[in-house]
Amino acid sequence: MPTPLYNALKDYAAKNPVRYHMPGHKGKFLPLPELMGLAPLDVTELPSTGNLYTAGAPFDEAQRLWADLFGFENCQFLTGGSTMGIHTGLALCARPGSRVLMDRNCHRAAFNALALLDLEPVYLERPWLAEENLIGPVSPEDVGKMLDQNPDIKMVCITSPTYAGVLSDIGAISRIVHAHGGKLFVDGAHGAHLTFLGEMTCYCEADAVVVSAHKTLPAMGQSALLFVNWMELDKVRQMASVYGSSSPSYPMMASLDAARQWLVDGGALDYLRTAARVARLRERFPALKGGTLKLDPCRFTLKVKDGPAFTKQLEERGVYPEMEDGGHVVFICTAQDSDGDFDNLEQVLEELCSQMGDCLPIPAPPVPKQVISPRQALFAPSRMRSLKDCEGEIAASQIAPYPPGVPVLAPGEQITKKELAYLREIGYNMLSEVRTVSGGFV
Ligand SMILES: Cc1ncc(COP(=O)(O)O)c(C=O)c1O
Repeated sequence: MPTPLYNALKDYAAKNPVRYHMPGHKGKFLPLPELMGLAPLDVTELPSTGNLYTAGAPFDEAQRLWADLFGFENCQFLTGGSTMGIHTGLALCARPGSRVLMDRNCHRAAFNALALLDLEPVYLERPWLAEENLIGPVSPEDVGKMLDQNPDIKMVCITSPTYAGVLSDIGAISRIVHAHGGKLFVDGAHGAHLTFLGEMTCYCEADAVVVSAHKTLPAMGQSALLFVNWMELDKVRQMASVYGSSSPSYPMMASLDAARQWLVDGGALDYLRTAARVARLRERFPALKGGTLKLDPCRFTLKVKDGPAFTKQLEERGVYPEMEDGGHVVFICTAQDSDGDFDNLEQVLEELCSQMGDCLPIPAPPVPKQVISPRQALFAPSRMRSLKDCEGEIAASQIAPYPPGVPVLAPGEQITKKELAYLREIGYNMLSEVRTVSGGFV
């Protein structure tokens, strides 16, 4: 079985080694019975197990096999989720201190990367789909216009798919960014499975994309993959090591190795079955349906009148969705959802049919005024305050309903009546404490 990393770990374990190295459980004992089976594979950097951040076996081959599958020049394993991949990828694609074009729909990890790299964001807003009560895909034309208006910008960062499963045309956007001499970074955290549905042949036109293997593939929590084109591989490894642990988890990385082989051995076909079941759910119930909108075929986004109440009823029936945002309930569907699971879901949804349908649309307010840079805001003296008392303050961290983790306010932006009214309307807890700047920024 071509699983180079997993094989190396098993070979080492088979020697019954006397381990005078990390980790402290020595491959013998973890005080939870469920974890015991993993202990022998949980090792450290040894001549035969390699080093994630340097060239050599077994990582070179394990990562090359993934890169080939995605049609990229190189792949970097990540043990810190897409969060680590976003930080690494933006550090590789953007010159510190430069201006960048950033999809406002980005995850908080991208906003933190702005601060760490002292990047100045120009935000790219997405079209609001009133009939779906959701944001739509990134418009390639808007990207082109923004780059024409801001010729100094040489890095664009977008998210595709969105939490709700909306896909943007990465190929078209890549070509526009490249025609302007820039680099495109894609946060594809939710799209690790798309390649196996023939949907994402054009991820590979981007300069870099990160996918959370753990979100939609049978891989361990936090495991993710960064794919890159046209970059010096040593630089990629070096930058990953800046954001990653110097003791990355071998079981997690072995799970990446094994997930790929499982997909190649036929697991990928199971995603087609999942997509067919999701198509049926979309037909039977009021849901995000596609049409002109391009959607992740495995994401089921149900339209409901009252998200929290609907989710509570699902949970009472033993069904736990990924998230709700007031008017939608999002179900992450993967190859591990059996036909029996889907039958059960359909049955439960039948019972709740009367509570489905459109809720009142609540479009997010326009991007607030940025008063200080994300970096100034992150590192300035700050204090915790109850959100309801924050009018006029400057946000020191994101204020983002999570999930989906898209900031209504980003660090450095002024909190006004408008954003507070919106947060109140979507049911955000106004008594929650948020961090605001208390002065002294430079
Ligand atoms: C769009 C998006 N990007 C990045 C992340 C972070 O991914 P991870 O949890 O793998 O670090 C998330 C997490 O939910 C996300 O939704």
